[in-house]
Amino acid sequence: MQDLPPRILSGVQPTGELHLGNYFGAIRQHLALQHEFPGECFFFIADYHALNTVRDAAQLRTMVFDAAVTYLALGLDPDKALLFRQSDVPEVTELTWLLSTVTGMGLLERAHSYKDKIAKGLKPSVGLFMYPVLMASDILAYRASVVPVGKDQVQHIEMTQDMATYFNETWSPKAPVLRRPEARLSSAPLVPGIDGRKMSKSYGNTIPLFLTGKPLRKRVGQIVTDSTPLGQPLPTEQCNVLALLSLFCDQAELEAIRGYYRAGARDGQPFGYGHAKAILADRIDAAFGEATLRRQALLAEPDRVEAVLQRSAARARELAAKTLHECRVAVGLR
Ligand code: TRP
Repeated sequence: MQDLPPRILSGVQPTGELHLGNYFGAIRQHLALQHEFPGECFFFIADYHALNTVRDAAQLRTMVFDAAVTYLALGLDPDKALLFRQSDVPEVTELTWLLSTVTGMGLLERAHSYKDKIAKGLKPSVGLFMYPVLMASDILAYRASVVPVGKDQVQHIEMTQDMATYFNETWSPKAPVLRRPEARLSSAPLVPGIDGRKMSKSYGNTIPLFLTGKPLRKRVGQIVTDSTPLGQPLPTEQCNVLALLSLFCDQAELEAIRGYYRAGARDGQPFGYGHAKAILADRIDAAFGEATLRRQALLAEPDRVEAVLQRSAARARELAAKTLHECRVAVGLR
């Protein structure tokens, strides 16, 4: 176990239209890892998890395909990182069962994500309750050593560590079968939505990643600002447009734009929010323009996308099958 190579793994929720918040919050970090991480990278689309919320088969298929296309369009290199469907490795569900037999109800009842949903009045399914066990199986099946996550997922990684320990102590105390993973907290910048709250699909305040041209300008135009009239100095604190611009500009550019804000003018001409928004729309277009074209090409070639998913899944499944075989022997199913 100790001499296993480093492996990093993360699950991607197939949430439908991906937006700037998804990109700066997770996708960008994932794509950087394939070049930086000294070991294998595993990314999978969490379609089993999605069943807890998506109740339309055609919609699920579209969302999963779209997530794959998006990662490939934005630069995931299938020769550097695996990208596969969670459900193409059904061993994960078997491990979920094995883990569930050593996991206390109490542990799962303490999950923040579960408690939050209950607090919102959601009637929980067993699937929702089991969410962290399925997630632990994702990680443990491939014996991942590192899991990059946002703050909201740290507790799930701690639970995964607990489940690995329960399993090892119960069934393989002398030669632990499961590898305990570590969380790696990714530092994500704050990405405000058009209304200033955190950009989130559930708030309906997103700027989708592959919006270009007129529709993009229209969306950016809807970003909420104060009502400082054109030509007056604009406040540089708590401006949603400026906060979004800071994700795309380097320090020098940002300082120049702040200068226009403070002066309410650029090159002797009045400068207002409309001008700032035009810069932002140009930047978004420039940042994702190429990816948008790649995305359109991939959308027209579903077989090519499927081939990538299958090739990755074969490698992932090989590892999961090995882990599951050892688990089966450890518990006495074999
Ligand atoms: N729960 C994660 C999220 O909501 C997605 C996920 C599923 C995941 N399985 C995982 C993340 C395993 C990391 C590792 O974003």
